[in-house]
Amino acid sequence: MAPKLVALLSVLPAALALNNGLAITPQMGWNTWNHFGCGIDQDTIVSAAQALISNGLDKLGYNYVLVDDCWQADARDPSTGAPVEDKSKFPNGIKAVADQVHSLGLKFGIYSSAGTYTCGGKFGSLGYEDIDAQTYASWGVDYLKYDNCYNEGRAGTPQISYERFNNMSQALNATGRPILYSMCNWGEDGPWNFAVNIANSWRISGDIYDNFDRYDDRCPCTSMLDCKLPGFICAMSRIIDFSAPLGQKAGKGHWNDLDMLEIGNGGMTYDEYVTHFSMWALVKSPLILGNDITNMSNETKEIITNDAIIAVNQDSGGSAASRIWKRALPEGGDIQLWAGSLVNYHFVFAVMNTSPKNQTIDISLLDVFNDQGKVFGSGTFTISDLWQKDSSGNWGTTVGNFQGKMTVSVKTHATRVFMAVPASMAAVRQEL
Ligand SMILES: *[C@@H]1O[C@H](CO)[C@@H](O)[C@H](O)[C@H]1NC(C)=O
Ligand SMILES: *[C@@H]1O[C@H](CO)[C@@H](O)[C@H](O)[C@H]1NC(C)=O
Ligand SMILES: *[C@@H]1O[C@H](CO)[C@@H](O)[C@H](O)[C@H]1NC(C)=O
Ligand SMILES: *[C@@H]1O[C@H](CO)[C@@H](O)[C@H](O)[C@H]1NC(C)=O
Ligand SMILES: *[C@@H]1O[C@H](CO)[C@@H](O)[C@H](O)[C@H]1NC(C)=O
Repeated sequence: MAPKLVALLSVLPAALALNNGLAITPQMGWNTWNHFGCGIDQDTIVSAAQALISNGLDKLGYNYVLVDDCWQADARDPSTGAPVEDKSKFPNGIKAVADQVHSLGLKFGIYSSAGTYTCGGKFGSLGYEDIDAQTYASWGVDYLKYDNCYNEGRAGTPQISYERFNNMSQALNATGRPILYSMCNWGEDGPWNFAVNIANSWRISGDIYDNFDRYDDRCPCTSMLDCKLPGFICAMSRIIDFSAPLGQKAGKGHWNDLDMLEIGNGGMTYDEYVTHFSMWALVKSPLILGNDITNMSNETKEIITNDAIIAVNQDSGGSAASRIWKRALPEGGDIQLWAGSLVNYHFVFAVMNTSPKNQTIDISLLDVFNDQGKVFGSGTFTISDLWQKDSSGNWGTTVGNFQGKMTVSVKTHATRVFMAVPASMAAVRQEL
């Protein structure tokens, strides 16, 4: 029973999701904001698009090039009300940049806010949904990140937030151009409940901050389930905590967005960025790079090109991993076990260490296979380590057959990610 139930829950019929055919697996790409903020121009975008290709990132799935805030002129066109780009940054217009991105075989995205102004103080789209969507479509836009600043108080109940964000969803649909709709209302009013059939993804929390775990009062909530002030400056591992109960709401075409990646921006160690990439992948968050991809260290490139971890994120089953347990440690921090199902009886699990010390711990396979049940979890599994390279240099190497338990060492702030496959399919058939 249990495995079938899990499989059913992960697949919403198409009619119950946003029907634009996009984000069947979580979207991947690059966005200007985390590294460049408002300091962008056409060269920033085109150079990044070229770097996606020259680094082979497009081949791994990173195919959206996304312009965040501050592309706009000071005002809309006074006669038509249409949005206008800042001509000092985009002298040939946004469309020319979109065309260049398309000519490289990539997709192009833009940003606005469901408010009077954007977060950077430019004109927002509230009340201008139709003309903005039509203009974006005429520019060749394939993706809209839609923020929540200056929303005139049109929030506070799921119904009001739904209406405001649905207005843009409808406007995008009316253009006839498939445009991925990435909602960014910071988890306000519970988008995982109300946005499933109007958006392809929704941010679950306040903005990420390039730091492992520093608490900041500007990100005051301990859970997003009833959070009155999502805020910002949310350290990376705090966002992982926020995501823990929400995986059940993710699925094909509609994902929980843990915010854009900070890998390569300098605020975390190698092991901390491994945790960042691993957990975003396991919970099926969009993987949107936020570093300067024209100038990356080898370590940064190594993390973001781990194709075994990317394959977990892009698994066609579309089922997010869940946290099985979190155990506080006397030295501070905790150890967490996360587990999820992939297609074809493959499974993934992660052991994450937020404590200040290296830890070695026995992981019970009955815990890993909690959702599949005792009989299944008592079997023998061939397990591979997705952060170890095999003898030909490919990510993912078999570490052995295990039954009952596996002893795992995890460095401070690191995460180990394993794939498990039943050692005998005959045994699986008997057990299910
Ligand atoms: C618009 O919505 C309809 C109904 O859900 C859907 O069939 C269609 O594919 C959508 N079109 C676009 C461009 O998103
Ligand atoms: C949605 O659009 C309608 C029609 O333009 C408008 O009357 C309504 O106020 C909008 N809703 C929100 C919450 O912005
Ligand atoms: C490239 O990265 C290095 C190391 O972070 C930095 O010192 C340098 O200024 C960067 N170069 C450019 C052109 O941004
Ligand atoms: C990155 O690795 C390559 C070889 O794989 C090496 O040639 C290059 O110097 C390294 N770059 C840095 C910045 O360490
Ligand atoms: C953790 O283990 C690594 C080697 O795996 C070692 O370099 C490091 O010093 C250890 N850190 C602590 C805090 O014990």
